[in-house]
Formats: sequence, structure tokens, C-alpha cells
Amino acid sequence: MPSASSVAVASEARVAASPGEPPDAHIVVRDMDMAYGSFVLIRGLNFTIRRGDIFVIMGGSGCGKSTLMRQMIGLKRPARGQVLYDGASFWDADPDGREQLMRRFGVLYQQGALWSSMTLAENIGLPLGEYTDLSAAEIREIASLKLALVGLAGFEDYYPSEISGGMRKRAGLARAMAMDPEVLFFDEPSAGLDPISSRRLDDLILELRDSMGGTVVMVTHELPSIFAIANNSVFLDPETKSQLATGDPHELLADPPDPKVAEFLTRGGSGRAGEGATAGPDQEATSG
Ligand SMILES: Nc1ncnc2c1ncn2[C@@H]1O[C@H](COP(=O)(O)OP(=O)(O)OP(=O)(O)O)[C@@H](O)[C@H]1O
Ligand SMILES: [Mg+2]
Repeated sequence: MPSASSVAVASEARVAASPGEPPDAHIVVRDMDMAYGSFVLIRGLNFTIRRGDIFVIMGGSGCGKSTLMRQMIGLKRPARGQVLYDGASFWDADPDGREQLMRRFGVLYQQGALWSSMTLAENIGLPLGEYTDLSAAEIREIASLKLALVGLAGFEDYYPSEISGGMRKRAGLARAMAMDPEVLFFDEPSAGLDPISSRRLDDLILELRDSMGGTVVMVTHELPSIFAIANNSVFLDPETKSQLATGDPHELLADPPDPKVAEFLTRGGSGRAGEGATAGPDQEATSG
């Protein structure tokens, strides 16, 4: 697997760091606009994700969270602006360079997306079969390893329909991990899960981040998740078509830069959402 320095694009499309950018900046979104044709979603996105961050994309339904993720993982070209990975501009790279960068991403999409006609091991093995020279036996071994990592050891030969929703989410995580990514992208990983499964998933995301030494970018509006695991964020506002805030959600809650951010982070309530971030059974009460 190519290292960051061996990716040809990294040198070609390298962009000078802005003053004030942290030395451990991993992903930088700079002066980005998001639009579908003439329909502008958000203008002027600017934020920095450091290596090892758990970064959340926040905002109401339909504000453009999934679109932002698509622009970051290479599925949709931004109307304007750049996404830099270790200083290399994704959208200024040639198609080969972009593909090299994309192989360093693991993605769990909003719409689940395990193939129902394939077993869990086959689902996880799919990208490995496509992008590596590993033998079938080696691929099977990696699939087992990844399943074990998400607590699904022994479920290799199950079909997605034979396991629970929470288990399917975890299998999706295992598949996102298949290629040992540097960045994991999750769109609503805990949507539709009960609070306990949801919290297990949070713990798992932390473990995966620690074991892979990478960075996590996720879309979620689950306040307990946000306060339990995120240390960086961006808040999108469709009314002003702008980014209202970026930074640690705990700090944004303590000192909200805009009333809408405060409202989101407290769900219009008392602010209890920020408490008990290190869990405890009471925390579930704040999730509804
Ligand atoms: N392919 C598309 N073509 C045109 N408009 C689109 C397309 N995909 C999304 N949109 C519009 O862009 C806006 C943002 O969509 P997006 O899916 O990014 O929102 P979101 O914040 O992820 O919403 P949710 O919280 O419901 O998942 C919506 O108004 C949506 O209708
Ligand atoms: Mg979405």
C-alpha cells in the first residue's frame, strides 16, 4: 500500500499551508462552496481537522451534511474551494492521484450498504479483492480479523438479513476498516440504533480510531455521541447558507458563537446534554 509520500499527487498538488494552521493538520477544507447546479447549499466552508480528531458534521436535516461528506471523499466536486489531505489538494489532483487518496479512506454511508446477496466475509473482502493482490484465503483471514475487531467473530458466513440492525452497522464498520484506512467517514452511524447499541458503537469508534491511529469524520445529530466522543466539529446553517461554528463541541456549548448552535447542542433544553459525557446509565435519558 502506498505511503503518503509515495503518492504522486501529493507533491504535484501540494498547497502552501495557511498561517496559523496546526502542524498536525490532517484534513483542511478551504473556501468551499456546496451547490447542486444553481441551488447553493452552503458558502465559505473553512475548517481544519487534526490527525486523530473525531470530527462531527452537525446541522439540521437537509442542510448539506451528507453532501459535505461526499465532497470530502471524492464523490462530488465542490462548486468552489479545496479539500487538502496532508497538504495535497484532492480536487486538483489527476484521477489517478485522487484514486490513490481515496484508497486511504474507509466509508460507512448513510444508507447502510452491505450487499444483501453476500455474506459478511464477502462484503468485507470486496474492496480487498478489487484493490489488492491478496489470495482468497488471505482475504478471508482479514475479513475474520475485521469482524473480530467489531465484536462479530464467527459471523463470517451470515448474510446481512440474518443479523440485527446494530450488528449490520458494526459489519459496515468492519467493511469500512477493510483497507486499513487513515480516515474513517461515517454518515449517521448510530441512526436507528437503541441507546445501548448506539453507545457501544461510540466506544467502538473510539477503539478503532486508537487502533488505526487515524482520523474520524462523522455526521451525527446524536448529542450523547457528540459529547462522548467528538473533539472537533463544524455546524452548517441552511438559512444563512454558512458555517456558523467550528471547534470542540464542548467549547461551543460552553460559549456558543450563535444561538442556533446553542439550541442544537442543548436541543432547545437546559444544556444537560453536555453533562455525563463519559457515560453512565443516566446518559441515555438525554438521547431522545
Ligand atoms: N443529487 C442531488 N441533486 C440535487 N439536490 C440534492 C441532491 N442531493 C441532495 N440534494 C439536496 O441538497 C440538500 C442537502 O442534502 P444532504 O443530503 O446533503 O443533507 P443532509 O444534511 O445530509 O440531510 P439529512 O440530515 O436528512 O441526512 C437537500 O436540500 C437535498 O434535497
Ligand atoms: Mg444526510
